[in-house]
Amino acid sequence: MKTMNLLTGLAPGLAKRAFKTAPILLSGSLKRGLCGLLLVPGLALAVPDAVFTVQAWKNQTLVRALTQEAACPGIRFDHHAEHPMQLRVAPQTLPSRPDQAKADAGPVEFKERVCEARWPKGAKTAQVAGQQVPSPPVHIHRIVLIGDTGCRMKAAEQAFQDCNDSVAWPFAQVALSAAALKPDLVVHVGDMHYRESPCPEGHAGCAGVAWGYGDAAWREDFFIPARPLLSAAPWVFVRGNHESCWRAGQGWFRFMDPWPWSAQRSCDDAANDPNADFSEPYAVALSPHAQLIVFDSSKTAGKPYAETDLAFQKYADALSQARQLMRKNPVNFFVSHHPLLALSSGWRAGKPAAAGNQGLQSVFEASFPQRLFPQGVQLTLAGHIHAFEAINFVSDHPTSLVLGNSGSGTDTNLPLSYPEGLSLYPGVQVGDYVASADFGFATLDRKSTGAKDAWLLTEYNTQGRPVFVCQVGQGKSHCAKAVPALE
Ligand SMILES: [Fe+2]
Repeated sequence: MKTMNLLTGLAPGLAKRAFKTAPILLSGSLKRGLCGLLLVPGLALAVPDAVFTVQAWKNQTLVRALTQEAACPGIRFDHHAEHPMQLRVAPQTLPSRPDQAKADAGPVEFKERVCEARWPKGAKTAQVAGQQVPSPPVHIHRIVLIGDTGCRMKAAEQAFQDCNDSVAWPFAQVALSAAALKPDLVVHVGDMHYRESPCPEGHAGCAGVAWGYGDAAWREDFFIPARPLLSAAPWVFVRGNHESCWRAGQGWFRFMDPWPWSAQRSCDDAANDPNADFSEPYAVALSPHAQLIVFDSSKTAGKPYAETDLAFQKYADALSQARQLMRKNPVNFFVSHHPLLALSSGWRAGKPAAAGNQGLQSVFEASFPQRLFPQGVQLTLAGHIHAFEAINFVSDHPTSLVLGNSGSGTDTNLPLSYPEGLSLYPGVQVGDYVASADFGFATLDRKSTGAKDAWLLTEYNTQGRPVFVCQVGQGKSHCAKAVPALE
């Protein structure tokens, strides 16, 4: 069913005309006007194209704003005087990287000025250009989990999703439904940018949409559809393989990376990739006893590493740092884009197969031969596989969640019951397994606090109807189909 275009709030035909008559106005000002969200005359030019809150390293909170104006907007914390946000990175047009170069690739254009302000300790509210900005929560009761959200346009695989169809590419609907649940925190497990190749001639489903590594594609693939959810709560961004340097890493560092931007860590120059393709892990507090550990796995390979490989050393160092962070809390949720223990329908959907990342497995096994993770890890959150999976283990391995079904085309041949005899990894024994290849998202709701944190995981369809509910705690999970609510 095609109804209103969720990106613009207009019927498809009208939306297309609006795009054609005012291409510059994929800039947020006009879009908000079309959606009826911009109601204050005279403020149009001052309203940023996106405003959002990032939960960053050392439990810092950052406010970011994207604008095509000549200067950063002002920010007001509580009732204090407004002051200008700091420039994170200026607009720039860059030559395409040699490894990005395709016959039809042009320069990488970033028109957005990325601005930033650090949330002062104790401040309760913030406003940018009159818009309320999500505040860091005092207590986290509900976390929204999404992943792999972009609309795939990739010539090398002849894969072109119908980005103009809100059913075929439902990220905008997912963001609306998830925002309605009023989360305290949003975790995106990576792969936000998918529009790498131009829509082929005659393919109506993606005709006219932006593509490439500049911010026009980022706006359409992420910032516009994500807007309701960006306005709902602070976000934790996890870097996916689509955000590695040779793909959309430049946008990652400008918009999402929680660390300060620098030329060395920008992906602008491939000579810096051995540094910029890896990041230091960091913790995000969920309670006095629980925390997320955010791990950048974006560059990992699908094969085991030799210990002499630079990537092995980088990931081993990051794992060691992560372990240090974990010592501070008994309950750790490990978040990386690539899962270590997961299932897919197999190469070309031929035969169900173990889909844990072999590069990471080789590194983690070297430090934790049996469990792959330190004892403090009770739950792992990942994406990359385009499906929802919740895997509980009989063996001593933390429950594995896969959350990669929030927009990009899903793994529709994924088995919905566990294939007999399939081994995910030596020594791993699967107990409960639930999975869905339908689009959707999940929430984690805190049920109790303390060293024995207990959570309720709910998997929803795109409309926000529960599909599965899982009791999660102490490293284990138990899932059941959700009981439909009485109408
Ligand atoms: Fe991925």
